[in-house]
Amino acid sequence: MQDLLTLLGIDVEYVRGEGNTLYFLDETGHEVPVIDYAGGYGALVLGHNHPEVVATVESFLRDRRPVLGQASRQPAAGRVVARLNDIVRREFDTAEPYYGVFSNSGAESVEVALKHAEFDRQLRLRALLEEIAEHVEQAREAVRAGTAVVSDGTDGDVEALAERVRAANSAVAARPPVFLALEGSFHGKLVGSVQLTHNPAYRTPFGAMAAQARFVPVDQPEAITKIAQEERAVLLDLRLKDGRVSVVERDFPQFAALFMEVIQGEGGIKEVTEQQARRIRQACAALDCPIVVDEIQSGMGRTGAFFASSLIGLRADYYTLAKGLGGGIAKTALTLIRGGRFRREFGLVHTSTFAKDGLSLAVTHTVLDVLEDRDGQAYRQAAERGARLVDLFRSLIKAHPEVLKEVRGKGLMLGLEFRDLSGATAPRLREAARSDLLGYVVAGYLLRAHRIRTFPTASAVNTLRFEPSIYLTDGEIDALERALRDVCARLDDQDEEAFFGP
Ligand code: F0G
Repeated sequence: MQDLLTLLGIDVEYVRGEGNTLYFLDETGHEVPVIDYAGGYGALVLGHNHPEVVATVESFLRDRRPVLGQASRQPAAGRVVARLNDIVRREFDTAEPYYGVFSNSGAESVEVALKHAEFDRQLRLRALLEEIAEHVEQAREAVRAGTAVVSDGTDGDVEALAERVRAANSAVAARPPVFLALEGSFHGKLVGSVQLTHNPAYRTPFGAMAAQARFVPVDQPEAITKIAQEERAVLLDLRLKDGRVSVVERDFPQFAALFMEVIQGEGGIKEVTEQQARRIRQACAALDCPIVVDEIQSGMGRTGAFFASSLIGLRADYYTLAKGLGGGIAKTALTLIRGGRFRREFGLVHTSTFAKDGLSLAVTHTVLDVLEDRDGQAYRQAAERGARLVDLFRSLIKAHPEVLKEVRGKGLMLGLEFRDLSGATAPRLREAARSDLLGYVVAGYLLRAHRIRTFPTASAVNTLRFEPSIYLTDGEIDALERALRDVCARLDDQDEEAFFGP
C-alpha cells in the first residue's frame, strides 16, 4: 500500500485537521489545505476535531475525570444506550428496548454480535435438547408402564430408540453455526468478522480459524431459502400419541445470524432496496435467524437519519455502531441487541479493558448532542448536502457518459463509479484500468492537481467514495466540481500525461 501511495504521489503526511480540511506542509514549511472527501472512511460525520468534541475532551482531561473505572457505577454508559433507544423509538416507531454492549472498534462490535448470536443459538439449542430429553423420558415411562408401544422399527425397544435419538442428536448438535452475509459486504478484519467480509483476499487465508458464512446475492434474497435447504439439519424427537411412540424431526437451529449493511461502504456504496430488505427479513423470520444491521459506516447521521436502515424500514435484531460514534477522536463501538433476543447472561461474556471508558462515553454524549440538536438539524443537513453532491454527479455523468457510469448512495455516503476504461487508446490509462488501478490514479491526480482527497475501495476499484462531514460548504462542493470536470475532460481526451507525467 505504501508503495502504491508513493507511486501516485499521495503519500503525504497530514499535520493538522479541522472540519473538512487536512493540511500538509510543503517544502517551505507552509500548510497546504486539502479538502477531505474520504472523511476517515465515514467516521468523520462531524469532521476533523469538531470544536464541541475537542472541548469535551479538553475539559474531561482538565478536570481529571476518570477514564477507567471498571466495576463501578458507569451511568454515562446507560445514558448513551437510553439516548440511542430514544432514537430507535423515533426512527423505527417501536417501543421495544435494545441493550448495549460496548467495545473498541467496528470489527469488535461485529464480533460482539457474532458471539451473542452464537450464545443465543446455543441457548436455543440447549432448550430444544432439554425438551427432547423430557419427551424421551415420558416415552420410556409410558412404555415401561405398558400404556404405550414403540411404533418405530426398533422391535419395540424404547431404550434402543432413546439411544438412537441421543446419538443422532449429539452428532447434529456439534455442528458449527452458519452465518449469512451479503455478497459485497465488509464487516471488519478480525478473525471472526473477516469471515463475514466478502472480499476473498481478506477472508480466505483465515477460513480455517472461524465459523463460515454463506454469502447471499443482494438482488436474490430467495437464495437464503435455498441455502437453508442445503444446510438443513434435524434433531430427532419422540412423540407419544394415542399409545404410540414415534420418531419425529425437529428443525436444528443452524443459523446464528445474517449480517448486512443497508448501504455497502467498502463494497462500493451499494444500496439495499426496501423490497430486498423486506424479502431478506421474511426469509430470516422463517428460519428464526436474527438480522444484524451493520451501521458502522452508514450510521450516526450521514445518510439523513441516525440509522440508514430506518430509511428503508428495516428494523434489526442487532445494530453495530462505531466510527462516527467516537466523534472522529475516540475509538469506541457499541452493539445494540433487541430486548426480545438479548441474553442477560451475555453481560460478562464479552468485556474489554477500554470498552465503556469514561472519555469515549463523554465524547459519544457530545456526538449525540450535536446530532440531535435543533430537532435533528444535522440529519437534514446531511440529506441536503448529499442532494447537492448528487446533483453535481448527475450533471457530470450527463456531460461525460463515456467516462462516468453512475452515482449511488444516500446523503453523504456516496459513490461515483467510473466506466471500465480497459479499452482506452492511451496505453498507460489502459494498463492502469486493466490492473484495477484507475481509481487510484484518478485519486492521485485529484490530490496533486486539486488538493482533493478521496479513494476507491479495494472491493470496488472504479468507484470513488465521497463521505465528507455534514459541514461541507458550497465552496468545497464547487472545488470538487472544478476538479471532477477537469478529470473527466482529461479522461475524455485520453490525456494520460496529466495523470502520469510525460
Ligand atoms: N463494518 C463496516 C460496515 C465497515 O465499513 C467497517 C470498516 C467495519 C465494519 C470495520 O470497522 O475498521 O473500526 O474495525 N470500514 C472501513 C472501510 C475500513 O474501508 O470502509 P473497524
